[in-house]
Amino acid sequence: MSTSLIQLSPEEKAAVKEVWVQLLVHKKEWGLRFYERLFALYPHMQHLFKGNMEHQGQKLVNVLTLIISKLDKIHNIREEVKALAERHKQYNVKPEYYLPFINLLLSVLAEAMGDKWTETTDQAMRKVMFIMMEAVIEHMSSGSDYQQAVENAKQVLKVAS
Ligand code: HEM
Repeated sequence: MSTSLIQLSPEEKAAVKEVWVQLLVHKKEWGLRFYERLFALYPHMQHLFKGNMEHQGQKLVNVLTLIISKLDKIHNIREEVKALAERHKQYNVKPEYYLPFINLLLSVLAEAMGDKWTETTDQAMRKVMFIMMEAVIEHMSSGSDYQQAVENAKQVLKVAS
């Protein structure tokens, strides 16, 4: 992830930062709602989590806040994001868990924002999530695993190529 494959336009960066400030106001509510829904839809993911889910929500918010605050200098947090991806391997998170996790997270965020969640916001937030996924991909072995992960990541972006 030395240079991201993905660039956010100035409009997209502004959209993400604006929406994030508003989402931070209700972070506790949507954080808890997100994990509740995750476990209802994907019960096999629940046993991976050992700690308090309110704290978990807070950690998720904190790391997304860090990524969003560094959109212009994403290379500066390369090591942190890579280490986070590496820790997820140790938590036994499988590469194929990322797409459902991210899609659900985006839908919970969209619901929290209502009409203020626009197509631009959606696309821009998908790019932020892709940056996280790039770090995950970097940890995969080459071959079919890698190809599958790239395909997975592209679905986050909803792009055809
Ligand atoms: C956008 C993608 C994701 C982000 C930003 C993210 C962020 C985080 C953060 C900040 C932590 C706190 C611990 C640490 O820093 O190591 C964490 C822990 C964890 N995450 Fe994620 N995560 C993501 C995707 C996933 C996915 C797809 C799963 C699969 C179910 C998952 C499962 C876990 C588990 C099991 C823990 C450890 C919880 C515990 O010890 O109780 N994460 N995550």
